[in-house]
Amino acid sequence: MSFKIGLLGLGTVGTGTAEILLSPDGRHPLVQELEVYRVGVRDLSKPRDVQLSKEILTTDLEAIATDPEVDIVVELLGGLEPARSLILKAIAHGKHVVTANKAVISRFAEEIYDAANEKGVYVMLEAAVGGGIPIIQPLKQTLGVNRIQAITGIVNGTTNYILTRMQNEGVDFADVLADAQKLGYAEADPTADVEGFDAADKIAILASLAFGGRIKLEEVYHEGITKVGAADIAYAEKLGFVIKLLAVAKQMSVKSNEPEQLQVRVHPTLVPKQHPLASVSGVYNAIFVEGDPIGQVMFYGRGAGAGPTASAVVSDILNIASILKTSVLPQPPTPILHPLLACTHQHYCQIAPMEELVTRFYARFLTNDNPGVIGHLGTAFGNHGVSLESVVQTGFRGDLAEIVVVTHDVREGNFRQALAEIRALEAVDSIASLLRVL
Ligand code: HSE
Repeated sequence: MSFKIGLLGLGTVGTGTAEILLSPDGRHPLVQELEVYRVGVRDLSKPRDVQLSKEILTTDLEAIATDPEVDIVVELLGGLEPARSLILKAIAHGKHVVTANKAVISRFAEEIYDAANEKGVYVMLEAAVGGGIPIIQPLKQTLGVNRIQAITGIVNGTTNYILTRMQNEGVDFADVLADAQKLGYAEADPTADVEGFDAADKIAILASLAFGGRIKLEEVYHEGITKVGAADIAYAEKLGFVIKLLAVAKQMSVKSNEPEQLQVRVHPTLVPKQHPLASVSGVYNAIFVEGDPIGQVMFYGRGAGAGPTASAVVSDILNIASILKTSVLPQPPTPILHPLLACTHQHYCQIAPMEELVTRFYARFLTNDNPGVIGHLGTAFGNHGVSLESVVQTGFRGDLAEIVVVTHDVREGNFRQALAEIRALEAVDSIASLLRVL
């Protein structure tokens, strides 16, 4: 038996995927039954790193999505269009789909999964989050019996690379970004990574799987790393923390008569040095899952790159092929999908507003060096129920005194009210930075 694969895109991940499919030796025997049948590319004349016969390559992507011979369409184009339309077209033509496209899935999951469920086909996305790290399948299957309480992830390699270098070299964001771009660790347009959009797409997908409902991407709070300064990294270090861009999805504790709410958010965070995520450095990703009864479990590995991401893509292809191989009965009129692999969420999860978040904060203030300034800050915080864990004044920035504060757990809404009062104080020049603490 062989399964015909229609590959859309032959970039980094597409090439890695073709390489695995064309060299089945030493892999699962089922890989031998996967045939690279057609590959859709934008430019036929471009030199390729993988040996494919000319007849396989085409620029007609739609012909692949609609070809009656193709069993599984693998979408590795990236971007929203034509990826979304081709996925929908493939589904409409009864093809199973494997995609690494977190941007499409996080925005159009409802449309795509409704269409897939109606047609009785699978849409698989292991490669969309964490590259080669198995996290989608564990959430769907191995951890499926758990009540998930929280997912906390470092899911963007570019920002983790930049923050790690800022930490190790004591330099500012802009200096590292320029170098990371030169070295190919950051895109020429790094916005999606450094502003937290990429991580927001990924945590929306993980939250949906972990908490069994759809997520509106526009409700996911995201803040990038562009405002994190070398000074913050140095203060964090002294206080026993490292700064990481965390993507968090967490069940809020609610009263029994209130509907369940989630926090789903991305922001730079002070992570205690002893936390397992603190030691995840460079381009590596990690996803820390807390559930009942599993407790804590962390998934760690390469979150991008040809080989690791292709490993995730082909694992999805294998899953579909194994189901097709064992489906001996014809599909009934209403298709039945494997309940652990299909996505059948119908409702939207309720996302709590950020003001309701209860967390510790780190804030760095620049003030005049007058007597009583720290007292004024303390009073303003006290007026809004903000309790302080530590206050440090270590030096000056120019003529201004630099005061760093870490709070105890506080409702974000209260903290922001206190900041508004502090901003109005005559002695306060500015709030140089504001970060949440894990
Ligand atoms: N831009 C992503 C990152 C690549 O830096 O992690 C994988 O999604």
